[in-house]
Formats: sequence, structure tokens, C-alpha cells
Amino acid sequence: MRTPAVEIANLTVAYHNKLVLWNVNCTIEQGAMVAIVGPNGAGKSTLLKTMLSLVHPIAGTINLLGYSHKKLLHTIAYVPQRSLVDSDFPVTVLDVVLMGTYKSLGWFKRPGKKEYDATYAAIAAVGMHDYAHQPIGQLSGGQQQRVFVARALVQNAQMYMLDEPFIGIDKTTEQIISSLLKKEQEKGKTILIVHHDLHTVASYFDAALLINKSAIAYGPLQMSFTPENVQKTFNYASPSDISGYRL
Ligand SMILES: Nc1ncnc2c1ncn2[C@@H]1O[C@H](COP(=O)(O)OP(=O)(O)OP(=O)(O)O)[C@@H](O)[C@H]1O
Ligand SMILES: [Mg+2]
Repeated sequence: MRTPAVEIANLTVAYHNKLVLWNVNCTIEQGAMVAIVGPNGAGKSTLLKTMLSLVHPIAGTINLLGYSHKKLLHTIAYVPQRSLVDSDFPVTVLDVVLMGTYKSLGWFKRPGKKEYDATYAAIAAVGMHDYAHQPIGQLSGGQQQRVFVARALVQNAQMYMLDEPFIGIDKTTEQIISSLLKKEQEKGKTILIVHHDLHTVASYFDAALLINKSAIAYGPLQMSFTPENVQKTFNYASPSDISGYRL
């Protein structure tokens, strides 16, 4: 059996003394495309941040590809939950995406033709070629989000962690980004996406992690993304409250 992409064991996370994640256990195989699903405040962003070592757990371990996650942070491309960039931030779309190549290049080498080609290709792939030289802060929220996805795509990452990447993005771009990520998955990359739209889980993902402080279910959609588990995760009163999503 291949080494799992992610092994989370007995993970407990608190902010100050408020418990946010409780005893999470989950093993994710390499090459999986996983939806992380749960209500606001469930701990989804905290889970990604803990994997990225931006938040430190009070108990438990995280291994990525068989190593402590702290050793493999450079192999992860991360798109944080959306926050708008200041309109006078003096950096262009090209700069932002090019920065994505620095991790594999090393900070002290100047990007060359290869890095510029990959950068322009990623900018074009998310439909932002006309904006390459615009300051990032002067783009709309959805356009900024596309640029951050492009930056993730040039990182040559083993693993992608995207926190609600489709928020504020139009449907066409959402589908383009989803198919770009599918191509990464086909190369064997592991992709974890915090995703709030229950209706599109079945078309974009093959596995789901349902979470509400603790992990309610993880596995292939047929096993994890069931009405009962969704109900449990969102504390719905009855399955009929789950308006029309289906596998
Ligand atoms: N830096 C922080 N300091 C203190 N509490 C925090 C911090 N970040 C998050 N929390 C709290 O931890 C809990 C989980 O937050 P988190 O952002 O992980 O939820 P989420 O599942 O990503 O929610 P959303 O769907 O709204 O993005 C929430 O109750 C939140 O208020
Ligand atoms: Mg969040």
C-alpha cells in the first residue's frame, strides 16, 4: 500500500481555551480529491491551518507522505479563505503568481524563462491574461481569487489545500479551476478543498471529510456524503432540511 498523503491522529486544537477541533482522525490516500464540508465555525479552516503549521494543536499528530507535516510544508500549495487585498498594495498579478515559483526555485535565484512561462500559462488558465500587469488590489474579489489559484498552480506542489476557493467566482471560472485541479489530481497530486456548496460536491469530488469540531465521516462519497451524515454535521432537524442535494 502507498504511503497515505495525510494521516491525522487524535488531533485536538484550541484557541486560548476554546476547543475548536476534537480528536480528529483521518487518513487520506495520495491522489484523492477531497471536499472538506461542515457549517460555519466547524473548524475547517483551522484544520487546514493546523496541517500548514500556522496553528499548533494541543494534542495529536499530522503526517504528510509519511513525515511529520512540519517537514513537508514546502510541498503544499495553499489558497487561504478569501480576504481582499488592499487597493494600494503595490504588486501586480504577474508578481503574485511568479512568487508561487519561488518555493521550488529557492528564494535567492531569479526566475528565468521557465518560471515566467509557467506563470503566464497559469494566469491565462484562470482567464486573467488581460490583467497580468494590473495591481492585484485593483481587481474584483473573484478576480483576486483566480490569481491566488494561479499562484497555487505554479508551485509544483505535491498537495493542494484550498479554503473555499470558489467563493465569489462565477460558475464558468469555477468549472475551469475545478478541471485544472482535476488535471493535477491525475498527476497524482492530493487535493483538499473546503467546499460549502453541497450541490456540487458530487460533481467535483470523489471523497468527503464531514466535520463539525470532530470528524463525522470520511471516505468515498457513497460512504461519507450520505443524507444522515450531512444531517449530523449540520445539525439539521430532519433530512428534508437538506434542500435537494444528491449524489
Ligand atoms: N484566530 C482565532 N482565535 C480565536 N478563535 C478562532 C480563531 N480562528 C477561528 N476561531 C474560532 O474557531 C472556530 C472554528 O473556526 P474556523 O475558522 O476553523 O471555522 P470554519 O469551519 O472554517 O468556518 P467558516 O465556514 O465560517 O469559514 C470558530 O468558532 C472561530 O470563531
Ligand atoms: Mg473557514
